[in-house]
Amino acid sequence: MHVVFFVPAVYLLLVTTPFATASRAADYLVIDPNQTCKRARWSRGKMADICNKKPGLLHQIARGIALGQNECQYQFRFRRWNCTTAKRSIKKVMLRDTRETGFVNAIIAAGITYQVTRACTKGEQIGCSCSKRKRKKNNKKKYPQLPEGDWEWDGCGENIEFGIKKSKDFLDTRYKKRSDMKTLVKLHNYVAGRLAIKNYMRTVCKCHGLSGSCTLKTCTRKMPSFREVGNRLKERFDGAAKVIAGNDGRSFEPEGATIKRPGRVDLVYSEESPTFCDPDNALGSFGTRDRTCNDSSQGEEGCGILCCGRGFVPRQEEVQVNCNCTFKYCCEVQCDVCNVTKKINMCM
Ligand SMILES: *[C@@H]1O[C@H](CO)[C@@H](O)[C@H](O)[C@H]1NC(C)=O
Ligand SMILES: *[C@@H]1O[C@H](CO)[C@@H](O)[C@H](O)[C@H]1NC(C)=O
Ligand SMILES: *[C@@H]1O[C@H](CO)[C@@H](O)[C@H](O)[C@H]1NC(C)=O
Ligand SMILES: *[C@@H]1O[C@H](CO)[C@@H](O)[C@H](O)[C@H]1NC(C)=O
Ligand SMILES: *[C@@H]1O[C@H](CO)[C@@H](O)[C@H](O)[C@H]1NC(C)=O
Repeated sequence: MHVVFFVPAVYLLLVTTPFATASRAADYLVIDPNQTCKRARWSRGKMADICNKKPGLLHQIARGIALGQNECQYQFRFRRWNCTTAKRSIKKVMLRDTRETGFVNAIIAAGITYQVTRACTKGEQIGCSCSKRKRKKNNKKKYPQLPEGDWEWDGCGENIEFGIKKSKDFLDTRYKKRSDMKTLVKLHNYVAGRLAIKNYMRTVCKCHGLSGSCTLKTCTRKMPSFREVGNRLKERFDGAAKVIAGNDGRSFEPEGATIKRPGRVDLVYSEESPTFCDPDNALGSFGTRDRTCNDSSQGEEGCGILCCGRGFVPRQEEVQVNCNCTFKYCCEVQCDVCNVTKKINMCM
């Protein structure tokens, strides 16, 4: 059997097996826009407006949710709860208010923001324009500085404000009148998710002109990669703060008096997570039996933590990889598909 890859003439691609779960479409969306919209059919407000009048935007929102969910699976691939899309697990997790709930909410809000912004840049007709970054005087704070020299802003930057606005319209507006603890925590984590993009926009500059003569120098604003957003939110997850209801009933505060008040970019939660060690339908836990672990790691993917101290057994797993690749003139790489046995460890 041959797998054929076409590669650009200039460079030869190194052929590797892609990460299987990263690009797979989610089979169940944490927030299913169709379901949400069905319930909102007769209501008013910004969310209902998107549902009823903006199918193009709704489509991008659904893609954004899937983007967030896929990233969640990548970031949690070695954790006891691996952000599975199985409804009977993630649904239970989302009904609570644990660290995991907070992470999923943040990454979904970020995913929608990201996808809507990206669609806008690509010129999809979703009611936006590209960001016109005319630097105003007295507004240096809001607009970043250009580098030294005769650089100017390109007319079109990534319109992150539009993405943030639509993410808010769809996710937040329906909670406007509520101030219970879970809602406050949820809204906080949505903001943290969006800021993981907004605070890390970068200025990218280019020279234009014949053979690098650089007669025109322009700069534009770009989002970080979504992997970077995911990595950052995973760090915030590891350092998330537990909060309790404040005295005024409209805010929360850190559980311990000595703990620093969480900032806008930090993730928060109000309930301890289950261990996810054993199967428990009520908690949406499948347990970690038969999960693959790494016996030389002390981290979350290590057999010690992942198997919850139950131990592990070595197994052999048959995997298919591209092998025996040859470069054919011109320009493709031809590979055989080989079966190799891989030694793995599985939790008992
Ligand atoms: C929502 O409905 C549209 C039209 O019926 C369909 O194309 C789309 O796949 C659905 N999206 C989801 C996430 O189920
Ligand atoms: C996630 O965990 C479930 C059960 O714990 C397991 O069946 C599934 O294979 C895991 N997914 C990945 C991508 O590791
Ligand atoms: C297992 O963990 C060790 C130590 O962290 C690491 O060097 C190694 O690459 C890991 N193995 C796999 C298969 O991920
Ligand atoms: C690699 O390709 C050569 C030539 O097609 C073939 O003779 C050889 O058996 C292949 N090796 C493997 C491991 O598939
Ligand atoms: C690899 O495994 C698959 C299914 O497990 C089998 O159909 C195929 O013939 C195997 N290929 C080789 C080269 O052994």
